Amino acid sequence: MGRIVISGASGDLGRRVTDLLLNADPRVELTLVTRNPEKLGRRAEQGLRVCRGDYRDPESLNAAYSGADTLFLISGMNLGRRISGHRTAIAAAQRAGIRHVVYTSVGGVQPKNPALSAKDHYQTELDLQGSGLAYTILRNSLYSEIVSNVLLAPAAATGLMKQATGDGFLAPVAKSDVARSAATCLLQNERHAGAVYEITGTELLTFHDVARIGSEVHGVSIRYVPVSAEERLSFFDSVGIPRTYDPHMPPSADGHMWASDELVSAEVAVAEGYQAILSHHVKHITGQDPASLRSVMERCKSLRYAEIDAAVS
Ligand SMILES: NC(=O)c1ccc[n+]([C@@H]2O[C@H](COP(=O)([O-])OP(=O)(O)OC[C@H]3O[C@@H](n4cnc5c(N)ncnc54)[C@H](OP(=O)(O)O)[C@@H]3O)[C@@H](O)[C@H]2O)c1
Repeated sequence: MGRIVISGASGDLGRRVTDLLLNADPRVELTLVTRNPEKLGRRAEQGLRVCRGDYRDPESLNAAYSGADTLFLISGMNLGRRISGHRTAIAAAQRAGIRHVVYTSVGGVQPKNPALSAKDHYQTELDLQGSGLAYTILRNSLYSEIVSNVLLAPAAATGLMKQATGDGFLAPVAKSDVARSAATCLLQNERHAGAVYEITGTELLTFHDVARIGSEVHGVSIRYVPVSAEERLSFFDSVGIPRTYDPHMPPSADGHMWASDELVSAEVAVAEGYQAILSHHVKHITGQDPASLRSVMERCKSLRYAEIDAAVS
Protein backbone atom coordinates (compact mmCIF):
# COMPACT_ATOMS: atom_id res chain seq x y z
CA MET A 1 0.00 0.00 0.00
CA GLY A 2 1.46 3.34 -1.09
CA ARG A 3 1.06 6.77 0.48
CA ILE A 4 -2.49 8.12 0.90
CA VAL A 5 -3.18 11.86 0.65
CA ILE A 6 -6.18 13.22 2.52
CA SER A 7 -7.13 16.53 0.91
CA GLY A 8 -9.47 18.29 3.35
CA ALA A 9 -7.83 16.59 6.34
CA SER A 10 -8.64 19.36 8.84
CA GLY A 11 -12.40 18.94 8.44
CA ASP A 12 -14.60 16.56 10.37
CA LEU A 13 -14.64 13.82 7.74
CA GLY A 14 -10.90 14.16 7.13
CA ARG A 15 -10.15 13.86 10.86
CA ARG A 16 -12.32 10.77 11.21
CA VAL A 17 -10.78 9.06 8.19
CA THR A 18 -7.24 9.88 9.39
CA ASP A 19 -8.01 8.23 12.75
CA LEU A 20 -9.56 5.17 11.10
CA LEU A 21 -6.57 4.69 8.78
CA LEU A 22 -4.07 5.03 11.65
CA ASN A 23 -6.08 2.61 13.79
CA ALA A 24 -6.23 0.10 10.93
CA ASP A 25 -2.46 0.30 10.36
CA PRO A 26 -0.25 2.60 12.46
CA ARG A 27 2.45 2.34 9.77
CA VAL A 28 0.21 3.65 7.00
CA GLU A 29 1.91 6.51 5.10
CA LEU A 30 -0.31 9.59 5.13
CA THR A 31 -0.11 13.14 3.83
CA LEU A 32 -2.64 15.49 5.41
CA VAL A 33 -3.55 18.53 3.32
CA THR A 34 -5.20 21.73 4.52
CA ARG A 35 -5.13 25.39 3.50
CA ASN A 36 -3.92 26.16 7.00
CA PRO A 37 -1.35 23.65 8.34
CA GLU A 38 -1.56 25.20 11.82
CA LYS A 39 -4.92 23.48 12.15
CA LEU A 40 -3.12 20.13 11.98
CA GLY A 41 -0.21 21.05 14.27
CA ARG A 42 -0.92 18.13 16.59
CA ARG A 43 -0.78 15.65 13.73
CA ALA A 44 2.55 17.10 12.59
CA GLU A 45 3.88 16.71 16.15
CA GLN A 46 2.85 13.04 15.95
CA GLY A 47 5.17 12.72 12.94
CA LEU A 48 2.56 12.81 10.18
CA ARG A 49 3.31 14.68 6.96
CA VAL A 50 1.15 17.84 6.92
CA CYS A 51 1.14 20.06 3.82
CA ARG A 52 -0.51 23.28 2.75
CA GLY A 53 -2.79 22.76 -0.23
CA ASP A 54 -5.56 24.84 -1.73
CA TYR A 55 -7.82 23.68 -4.58
CA ARG A 56 -7.33 27.16 -6.05
CA ASP A 57 -3.51 27.01 -5.96
CA PRO A 58 -2.09 24.30 -8.29
CA GLU A 59 1.50 24.82 -7.11
CA SER A 60 0.54 24.02 -3.54
CA LEU A 61 -1.14 20.78 -4.65
CA ASN A 62 1.85 19.69 -6.77
CA ALA A 63 3.99 19.66 -3.65
CA ALA A 64 1.34 18.27 -1.34
CA TYR A 65 0.36 15.32 -3.57
CA SER A 66 3.89 14.30 -4.56
CA GLY A 67 4.98 10.76 -3.73
CA ALA A 68 1.44 9.49 -3.14
CA ASP A 69 -0.45 6.59 -4.63
CA THR A 70 -4.03 7.35 -3.57
CA LEU A 71 -5.91 10.62 -3.06
CA PHE A 72 -8.93 11.10 -0.82
CA LEU A 73 -10.45 14.14 -2.55
CA ILE A 74 -12.85 15.62 -0.01
CA SER A 75 -15.09 18.01 -1.87
CA GLY A 76 -14.78 21.72 -1.11
CA MET A 77 -17.72 23.72 0.13
CA ASN A 78 -18.27 26.77 -2.00
CA LEU A 79 -20.59 26.65 -4.92
CA GLY A 80 -19.21 28.35 -8.00
CA ARG A 81 -15.61 27.52 -7.13
CA ARG A 82 -15.93 23.80 -6.61
CA ILE A 83 -15.78 22.53 -10.18
CA SER A 84 -12.61 24.43 -11.05
CA GLY A 85 -11.06 23.64 -7.66
CA HIS A 86 -11.68 19.94 -8.08
CA ARG A 87 -10.33 20.07 -11.65
CA THR A 88 -7.17 21.63 -10.28
CA ALA A 89 -6.90 18.82 -7.72
CA ILE A 90 -7.46 16.07 -10.33
CA ALA A 91 -4.84 17.62 -12.63
CA ALA A 92 -2.37 17.84 -9.72
CA ALA A 93 -3.06 14.18 -8.92
CA GLN A 94 -2.24 13.25 -12.52
CA ARG A 95 1.00 15.24 -12.42
CA ALA A 96 1.97 13.70 -9.09
CA GLY A 97 1.54 10.15 -10.43
CA ILE A 98 -1.37 9.34 -8.14
CA ARG A 99 -3.14 6.24 -9.41
CA HIS A 100 -6.47 6.24 -7.58
CA VAL A 101 -8.86 8.95 -6.35
CA VAL A 102 -11.66 8.40 -3.82
CA TYR A 103 -14.10 11.31 -4.15
CA THR A 104 -16.94 12.50 -1.87
CA SER A 105 -19.93 13.25 -4.09
CA VAL A 106 -23.55 13.64 -3.06
CA GLY A 107 -26.64 11.44 -3.35
CA GLY A 108 -28.99 11.83 -6.31
CA VAL A 109 -26.38 13.17 -8.74
CA GLN A 110 -27.89 13.35 -12.20
CA PRO A 111 -28.27 16.12 -14.78
CA LYS A 112 -31.86 17.13 -13.93
CA ASN A 113 -31.35 17.30 -10.16
CA PRO A 114 -32.24 20.91 -9.27
CA ALA A 115 -29.77 21.02 -6.32
CA LEU A 116 -27.02 23.43 -7.35
CA SER A 117 -24.44 21.46 -5.37
CA ALA A 118 -25.43 18.26 -7.23
CA LYS A 119 -24.57 20.00 -10.51
CA ASP A 120 -21.05 20.69 -9.20
CA HIS A 121 -20.61 17.10 -8.03
CA TYR A 122 -22.00 15.73 -11.31
CA GLN A 123 -19.38 17.68 -13.25
CA THR A 124 -16.55 16.55 -10.96
CA GLU A 125 -17.70 12.94 -11.33
CA LEU A 126 -17.50 13.33 -15.12
CA ASP A 127 -14.07 15.01 -14.84
CA LEU A 128 -12.80 12.18 -12.66
CA GLN A 129 -14.22 9.47 -14.90
CA GLY A 130 -12.58 11.14 -17.90
CA SER A 131 -9.22 11.63 -16.18
CA GLY A 132 -7.78 8.19 -16.83
CA LEU A 133 -7.20 7.76 -13.08
CA ALA A 134 -8.76 4.88 -11.20
CA TYR A 135 -11.57 6.20 -9.02
CA THR A 136 -14.16 5.36 -6.39
CA ILE A 137 -17.10 7.72 -5.98
CA LEU A 138 -18.95 7.94 -2.67
CA ARG A 139 -22.32 9.62 -3.21
CA ASN A 140 -23.06 10.56 0.37
CA SER A 141 -26.64 11.09 1.51
CA LEU A 142 -27.38 14.08 3.70
CA TYR A 143 -25.46 13.63 6.96
CA SER A 144 -27.67 12.43 9.84
CA GLU A 145 -25.86 14.97 12.03
CA ILE A 146 -27.12 17.80 9.78
CA VAL A 147 -30.67 16.44 9.88
CA SER A 148 -30.43 15.99 13.65
CA ASN A 149 -28.53 19.07 14.78
CA VAL A 150 -28.94 21.69 12.04
CA LEU A 151 -32.49 21.02 10.79
CA LEU A 152 -34.30 19.27 13.65
CA ALA A 153 -32.72 20.60 16.85
CA PRO A 154 -33.77 24.27 16.36
CA ALA A 155 -37.33 23.00 15.78
CA ALA A 156 -37.22 21.31 19.19
CA ALA A 157 -37.27 24.85 20.66
CA THR A 158 -40.09 26.21 18.48
CA GLY A 159 -42.10 23.04 17.83
CA LEU A 160 -42.13 23.79 14.11
CA MET A 161 -39.84 22.71 11.26
CA LYS A 162 -40.52 24.51 7.97
CA GLN A 163 -38.68 23.44 4.81
CA ALA A 164 -39.18 23.19 1.07
CA THR A 165 -38.59 19.42 1.22
CA GLY A 166 -42.26 18.56 0.55
CA ASP A 167 -43.13 14.94 1.21
CA GLY A 168 -39.87 13.73 -0.34
CA PHE A 169 -37.86 10.83 1.06
CA LEU A 170 -34.20 10.64 2.03
CA ALA A 171 -32.01 8.14 3.89
CA PRO A 172 -29.67 10.24 6.08
CA VAL A 173 -26.29 8.68 6.80
CA ALA A 174 -24.14 9.00 9.92
CA LYS A 175 -20.78 10.65 9.35
CA SER A 176 -19.16 7.67 11.07
CA ASP A 177 -20.52 5.42 8.30
CA VAL A 178 -19.29 7.77 5.58
CA ALA A 179 -15.86 7.79 7.24
CA ARG A 180 -15.72 3.99 7.65
CA SER A 181 -16.74 3.52 4.01
CA ALA A 182 -14.13 6.01 2.80
CA ALA A 183 -11.33 4.53 4.94
CA THR A 184 -12.10 1.02 3.67
CA CYS A 185 -12.12 2.17 0.03
CA LEU A 186 -8.78 3.94 0.55
CA LEU A 187 -7.16 0.87 2.14
CA GLN A 188 -8.64 -1.55 -0.44
CA ASN A 189 -8.66 0.75 -3.44
CA GLU A 190 -8.22 -1.96 -6.09
CA ARG A 191 -11.28 -3.83 -4.81
CA HIS A 192 -13.39 -0.67 -5.15
CA ALA A 193 -11.94 0.73 -8.40
CA GLY A 194 -14.61 2.04 -10.78
CA ALA A 195 -17.39 1.81 -8.16
CA VAL A 196 -19.99 4.53 -7.68
CA TYR A 197 -21.50 3.94 -4.25
CA GLU A 198 -24.66 5.41 -2.75
CA ILE A 199 -23.68 5.89 0.90
CA THR A 200 -27.02 5.94 2.73
CA GLY A 201 -28.41 5.23 6.16
CA THR A 202 -30.83 2.50 7.18
CA GLU A 203 -34.24 3.73 6.07
CA LEU A 204 -36.09 6.11 3.80
CA LEU A 205 -37.78 8.87 5.78
CA THR A 206 -39.81 11.97 5.00
CA PHE A 207 -39.40 15.05 7.18
CA HIS A 208 -42.74 14.12 8.78
CA ASP A 209 -40.91 10.97 9.98
CA VAL A 210 -37.89 13.04 11.04
CA ALA A 211 -40.17 15.30 13.12
CA ARG A 212 -41.84 12.25 14.72
CA ILE A 213 -38.49 10.66 15.65
CA GLY A 214 -37.19 14.03 16.85
CA SER A 215 -40.29 14.54 19.02
CA GLU A 216 -39.67 11.18 20.71
CA VAL A 217 -35.93 11.79 21.19
CA HIS A 218 -36.30 15.37 22.50
CA GLY A 219 -39.50 14.67 24.45
CA VAL A 220 -41.34 17.63 22.88
CA SER A 221 -43.87 17.92 20.09
CA ILE A 222 -42.26 18.92 16.76
CA ARG A 223 -44.38 19.40 13.65
CA TYR A 224 -43.01 19.49 10.11
CA VAL A 225 -44.72 21.88 7.69
CA PRO A 226 -43.68 21.78 4.03
CA VAL A 227 -43.41 25.30 2.57
CA SER A 228 -42.67 26.72 -0.87
CA ALA A 229 -39.16 27.46 -2.12
CA GLU A 230 -40.06 31.17 -2.18
CA GLU A 231 -41.03 31.10 1.50
CA ARG A 232 -37.71 29.47 2.37
CA LEU A 233 -35.76 32.03 0.33
CA SER A 234 -37.60 34.80 2.21
CA PHE A 235 -36.67 33.17 5.52
CA PHE A 236 -32.97 33.08 4.55
CA ASP A 237 -33.28 36.73 3.41
CA SER A 238 -34.58 37.57 6.88
CA VAL A 239 -31.48 36.09 8.57
CA GLY A 240 -29.10 37.86 6.19
CA ILE A 241 -28.02 34.98 3.96
CA PRO A 242 -27.49 36.22 0.38
CA ARG A 243 -29.48 34.65 -2.45
CA THR A 244 -26.51 33.80 -4.64
CA TYR A 245 -22.87 33.06 -4.16
CA ASP A 246 -20.64 36.09 -4.44
CA PRO A 247 -16.87 35.51 -4.31
CA HIS A 248 -16.46 38.82 -2.43
CA MET A 249 -18.93 38.11 0.34
CA PRO A 250 -17.54 37.63 3.84
CA PRO A 251 -17.40 34.02 5.07
CA SER A 252 -19.76 33.04 7.87
CA ALA A 253 -18.45 31.94 11.26
CA ASP A 254 -17.76 28.42 9.99
CA GLY A 255 -15.58 29.78 7.16
CA HIS A 256 -18.01 28.86 4.38
CA MET A 257 -19.98 31.21 2.17
CA TRP A 258 -23.57 30.11 2.24
CA ALA A 259 -26.06 31.27 -0.37
CA SER A 260 -29.75 30.52 -0.08
CA ASP A 261 -30.15 29.36 -3.67
CA GLU A 262 -27.83 26.43 -2.88
CA LEU A 263 -29.59 25.60 0.39
CA VAL A 264 -33.15 25.87 -0.98
CA SER A 265 -32.38 24.04 -4.24
CA ALA A 266 -31.16 21.10 -2.12
CA GLU A 267 -34.48 21.10 -0.28
CA VAL A 268 -36.41 21.19 -3.56
CA ALA A 269 -34.34 18.22 -4.77
CA VAL A 270 -35.59 16.24 -1.76
CA ALA A 271 -39.19 17.29 -2.50
CA GLU A 272 -38.80 16.14 -6.10
CA GLY A 273 -37.52 12.70 -5.07
CA TYR A 274 -33.85 13.01 -6.00
CA GLN A 275 -32.75 11.90 -2.53
CA ALA A 276 -35.11 8.91 -2.37
CA ILE A 277 -32.24 6.45 -2.51
CA LEU A 278 -31.59 3.55 -0.13
CA SER A 279 -28.64 1.24 -0.68
CA HIS A 280 -26.75 -1.53 1.09
CA HIS A 281 -23.39 -0.09 0.06
CA VAL A 282 -22.19 0.82 3.59
CA LYS A 283 -22.62 -2.83 4.62
CA HIS A 284 -21.16 -4.06 1.32
CA ILE A 285 -18.03 -1.93 1.82
CA THR A 286 -17.52 -2.17 5.59
CA GLY A 287 -19.32 -5.39 6.56
CA GLN A 288 -21.34 -3.46 9.17
CA ASP A 289 -24.87 -2.08 9.12
CA PRO A 290 -25.07 1.74 9.18
CA ALA A 291 -26.38 3.66 12.20
CA SER A 292 -30.00 4.80 12.33
CA LEU A 293 -30.97 8.48 12.38
CA ARG A 294 -32.56 7.93 15.79
CA SER A 295 -29.28 6.65 17.28
CA VAL A 296 -27.39 9.70 15.94
CA MET A 297 -30.07 12.02 17.35
CA GLU A 298 -29.90 10.36 20.74
CA ARG A 299 -26.12 10.61 20.94
CA CYS A 300 -25.89 14.19 19.64
CA LYS A 301 -29.05 15.88 20.90
CA SER A 302 -27.34 18.05 23.51
CA LEU A 303 -24.57 19.26 21.17
CA ARG A 304 -24.19 21.95 18.57
CA TYR A 305 -23.32 20.62 15.09
CA ALA A 306 -19.73 21.88 15.32
CA GLU A 307 -19.24 20.02 18.62
CA ILE A 308 -20.04 16.60 17.15
CA ASP A 309 -16.98 14.49 16.48
CA ALA A 310 -15.96 10.86 16.20
CA ALA A 311 -16.18 10.46 19.98
CA VAL A 312 -19.95 10.84 19.96
CA SER A 313 -21.19 9.88 16.52
N1 LIG B 1 -23.48 14.83 2.63
C1 LIG B 1 -23.70 15.92 3.35
O1 LIG B 1 -24.70 16.05 4.09
C2 LIG B 1 -22.73 17.04 3.32
C3 LIG B 1 -22.98 18.19 4.06
C4 LIG B 1 -22.07 19.22 4.08
C5 LIG B 1 -20.92 19.09 3.33
N2 LIG B 1 -20.69 17.97 2.59
C6 LIG B 1 -19.47 17.81 1.77
O2 LIG B 1 -18.63 16.87 2.45
C7 LIG B 1 -17.33 17.43 2.64
C8 LIG B 1 -16.71 16.91 3.91
O3 LIG B 1 -17.57 17.19 5.01
P1 LIG B 1 -16.97 17.72 6.38
O4 LIG B 1 -18.07 17.64 7.37
O5 LIG B 1 -15.67 17.07 6.68
O6 LIG B 1 -16.72 19.26 6.03
P2 LIG B 1 -15.79 20.29 6.81
O7 LIG B 1 -15.59 19.86 8.23
O8 LIG B 1 -16.35 21.63 6.56
O9 LIG B 1 -14.39 20.15 6.06
C9 LIG B 1 -14.22 20.62 4.75
C10 LIG B 1 -12.77 20.40 4.36
O10 LIG B 1 -12.60 20.87 3.01
C11 LIG B 1 -11.38 21.57 2.96
N3 LIG B 1 -11.46 22.61 1.93
C12 LIG B 1 -12.47 23.47 1.70
N4 LIG B 1 -12.16 24.28 0.69
C13 LIG B 1 -10.90 23.94 0.29
C14 LIG B 1 -10.01 24.42 -0.71
N5 LIG B 1 -10.32 25.48 -1.51
N6 LIG B 1 -8.82 23.82 -0.86
C15 LIG B 1 -8.47 22.79 -0.07
N7 LIG B 1 -9.27 22.27 0.91
C16 LIG B 1 -10.46 22.86 1.07
C17 LIG B 1 -11.21 22.21 4.33
O11 LIG B 1 -9.83 22.36 4.59
P3 LIG B 1 -9.14 23.70 5.17
O12 LIG B 1 -10.22 24.68 5.54
O13 LIG B 1 -8.33 23.27 6.34
O14 LIG B 1 -8.30 24.13 4.05
C18 LIG B 1 -11.80 21.15 5.25
O15 LIG B 1 -10.79 20.26 5.70
C19 LIG B 1 -17.58 18.94 2.63
O16 LIG B 1 -16.43 19.63 2.28
C20 LIG B 1 -18.71 19.08 1.62
O17 LIG B 1 -18.24 19.17 0.29
C21 LIG B 1 -21.57 16.94 2.58
